[in-house]
Amino acid sequence: PIKERVDDLLARMTIEEKVGQMTQLNITLINETGDQSDVNLVPEKAKELLTNHHIGSFLNGEAVPPEQWLKYTQELQKIAVEETRLGIPIIYGIDHIHGASYIQNSTIFPHNINIGATFNTENSFQNGRITALESAPLGHTWNFSPVLDLGQNPYWPRQYETFGEDPYLASELGTAYVDGYQQEPGDIAPYGLAATAKHFLGYSVPRSGWDRTPVDLSMQTIHEFHRPSFQAAIDAGIKTIMVNSSEINGIPVHNSKQLLSDLLREEMGFEGIVLTDWEDIGKLVNYHKTARNYDEATYQAVEAGIDMSMTPQSLEFNESLLKLVKDGRISEERLDESVRRILKLKFELGLFEHPYPSGEDLDQIGIDSHKKKALQAARESMVLLKNADNTLPFSKELDQILVVGPSAKSKRNLSGGWTLAWQGSSEDRYPESMKTISEAIADKFSDTQVVSIDSIGPENSDRRSHFNEALNNSDAVIIAAGEEPYTEYVGNITNLELPEDQLDLIRAVNQSGKPTALVLVEGRPRVITDIVDETEAIVWAGLPGFEGAEAIADVISGDYNPSGKLPFSYPQFTGHFVPYNHKSSAVYYFDPDVANNIEQANKTTAQWNFGHGLSYTDFSYDELSISDTTLTDNQQITATTTVTNSGDRAGTEIVLWYITDEVGRITRPVKELVHFKRIQLEPGEQQQVTFKINPKNHLGYPDFEGKNILEEGYFTIHVGSQNARFYLQSDSPTINLQSK
Ligand code: IFM
Repeated sequence: PIKERVDDLLARMTIEEKVGQMTQLNITLINETGDQSDVNLVPEKAKELLTNHHIGSFLNGEAVPPEQWLKYTQELQKIAVEETRLGIPIIYGIDHIHGASYIQNSTIFPHNINIGATFNTENSFQNGRITALESAPLGHTWNFSPVLDLGQNPYWPRQYETFGEDPYLASELGTAYVDGYQQEPGDIAPYGLAATAKHFLGYSVPRSGWDRTPVDLSMQTIHEFHRPSFQAAIDAGIKTIMVNSSEINGIPVHNSKQLLSDLLREEMGFEGIVLTDWEDIGKLVNYHKTARNYDEATYQAVEAGIDMSMTPQSLEFNESLLKLVKDGRISEERLDESVRRILKLKFELGLFEHPYPSGEDLDQIGIDSHKKKALQAARESMVLLKNADNTLPFSKELDQILVVGPSAKSKRNLSGGWTLAWQGSSEDRYPESMKTISEAIADKFSDTQVVSIDSIGPENSDRRSHFNEALNNSDAVIIAAGEEPYTEYVGNITNLELPEDQLDLIRAVNQSGKPTALVLVEGRPRVITDIVDETEAIVWAGLPGFEGAEAIADVISGDYNPSGKLPFSYPQFTGHFVPYNHKSSAVYYFDPDVANNIEQANKTTAQWNFGHGLSYTDFSYDELSISDTTLTDNQQITATTTVTNSGDRAGTEIVLWYITDEVGRITRPVKELVHFKRIQLEPGEQQQVTFKINPKNHLGYPDFEGKNILEEGYFTIHVGSQNARFYLQSDSPTINLQSK
């Protein structure tokens, strides 16, 4: 049994060896050049760190061929196992964020924001599963994914790494991801893979919008919005959690016993490893300034509850922790708690039995069946935001199509950050097999002349004349708008509007009167309010990954009928945005008719609401009926409607069920997503859809202590354009339903 093996090993470890297990170091300390991209081990450097400092974990690198990775991880592990006193294997951590994105020729899925738009747990499961299959045999047994923060602030540069703004959606998709990554070894012979839920918690809502800047969050908001996705991952068995780099209410999370111990361990029941983010103990000294020096910072973080420090560029943590234990400030028992968790994970993953990456199945990396799953996810994630006069799909009989804009020929833009390298890579490093939007359109419209232009230059320039001529000669235009890849603070911006040169391009194309489709390739919603009315068709493509261009071409040509829905509220203004599940007073309106109409009220801030997405067919919803208009605490009632495909082509509708708690002791969101289901319907086909309302799961809400309460009163259930009202008769006005 693992427990006995851990106890046995722990009893034989020195303090130095325990401290080493709690340290994670960067690849730059053991490679030749000190570059992140250099996956060439210098055995002497590794040996020094492993034998003299007993390091337990290393991380990162950039995309190199699988064979090179294998050589590196095998050599590194050999030193850990054969040349250290106890032969404890290392665990290698990496950022394979949307597919095994640091391995050349791997399968690259759309980013999570696109997975959010599919409302399909199968896509996140496959994303996790295929990433595990392609990376674990190379010794990448710890993956820093998925992000379970909520994408509520479009200025925050990591919105695309989230599943969107809704806690229920993030919980469902996140859990499926964890299942995909961590499913028992089985076909990932002989390894398992550990996933990381990150960044615990509240990281995504910095007051200024900029990455890693201060967050203000009440405990009420934490329990109600930011906790559920992490709780769901814990309940699904997530093995590790990475900590939010920011401060919340004046306390850096890395120094918060309240969040890392009381909440995460005690209340939420997490038993796995808590890992810091990048150099975040050091940041307590030079960034947050809660500690005077590294020793003090280490004391704060370890006392708060971290198990392992992603140091990652030096031995400072290692040295400080050792000193603190020797000085008696941190007890050896405290070290044991963390080391126990780390060893347990290494045993669970089979690293002691099979320390050396097998390299088996390298030929599975990037195979067609994997890419097909990524393509399907990308297709399902396309959101048709606007389609005036059925501009789309474009006919395949056109003589000429112009594809214009910064994403027309860019593979980088389609893939976003965390692809091949941290901030994306240079155009020439993307695989040849990956298509740009122009290439995918040319393949799809094989009888049409496709002209591709990425930038149109200033007025009176040669480039502009070329563009004007191409525009005049084209029968239809695809504007491939976009953003360069980014992640973390590198992606901070001061203006959410789509850059002026791109707005100019859109205006110029719109003036031509040609049938136009604007395709938004973006990691966060860039405000385009000024051009929405004049632009006939708009497709949100997000960051759809290596198969993304094909998915876009499928939608533009009509070979695929779009079904995605926005997993966030698309802002109308650069300075005002609220998520769909805001409190009633967030959209304060003098006219009560508007304030009480949720769709209209949301429209005052959102260009398109959460859940918006059109199809090339039409769906209608019959009147919603409920099995009873009153229920008690232990009953459930069933809501039923029938969805009809009333258009003339087959399509998929994502049925979204929401509930409104009309009156609450603590103010309630105007509505909350409680269930979703994708249904496929042929033209004219109908399907009955039902939802069972269960008071405990759907009508309660947490108070500021995290206890679920259930209040008597009226609720409304919504689906499609329909809604129905019912009454909860509670035995007592407030019931504690927390099942702990
Ligand atoms: O995993 C990432 C994290 O999301 C952001 N900071 C760096 C980590 C390791 O690269």
